[in-house]
Amino acid sequence: MKNIKGNKIIAGIVILFFVIACRHEILQNNTEINPGTPVPTSNCSPDTVYFANQIMPIISSNCTMSGCHDNITHADGVNLTSYTRIMRYVVAGNANESKLFKVIIKSDGDRMPPPPMPPLSSEQKALIQKWISQGAKNNTCIGSCDTTVFTYSGSVRPLIETKCIGCHNPANPGGNIDLSTYNAVKIVALNGKLYGSVAQLPGYSPMPKNSIKLIDCEIRQIQKWIAAGSQNN
Ligand code: HEC
Repeated sequence: MKNIKGNKIIAGIVILFFVIACRHEILQNNTEINPGTPVPTSNCSPDTVYFANQIMPIISSNCTMSGCHDNITHADGVNLTSYTRIMRYVVAGNANESKLFKVIIKSDGDRMPPPPMPPLSSEQKALIQKWISQGAKNNTCIGSCDTTVFTYSGSVRPLIETKCIGCHNPANPGGNIDLSTYNAVKIVALNGKLYGSVAQLPGYSPMPKNSIKLIDCEIRQIQKWIAAGSQNN
């Protein structure tokens, strides 16, 4: 009797191993980045949470850095670099049943992003919860970006905080680039890498990595700020 039970357990472990191994392979062979993100057509409604504008930036800069849920590492088999992939951990309409939401609200060592990284802010958690509750759509809208505003504090800094800082801070300087201070941002502004990477010009690494390209208005703001002398204004 004991032996039969033991065999069943071993068979279970073997099956589980194959399921995990197969899943890994599927994820590894699949390298597309955010296909089918709709072109923004509508103005942003204050009551709606938009995937391309609000959710992807949070996930790419807090979860897809090197060594985590990117195309290369996909830690625990989880790759969060596109809408389709993120949806594997989302039950549209039900945040409490969605793995993506459950792991970010945990308070123990299992929470994501894991310690020593800081947890998501309560505002970011609430946005993810609301987006899932509203059906977790692959939606996007034309934001309130204004090309006549191109100061460091008014446009460049807030954009870096939302879309770049998770991968470019002193603890995690992607490509050895830290964008947490004005002086550091000024270096990449002056050497052409800031504009080259966000405009995704040939010869530069396209930024934001593992995410959706900045909208034209944001790229123009950065370009104008640099052209006006990259000041700390
Ligand atoms: C998911 C992590 C991640 C995000 C988000 C991200 N970066 Fe990067 N960035 C990297 C890594 C890693 C590199 C090193 C090159 C590479 O691996 O592509 C890099 C390289 C760069 C470079 C050097 C490019 C070159 O061609 O030498 C610049 C400039 C840069 N990032 C700016 C930004 C800006 C601005 C944003 C936000 C709009 C951003 N990054 C968002 C990870 C990221």
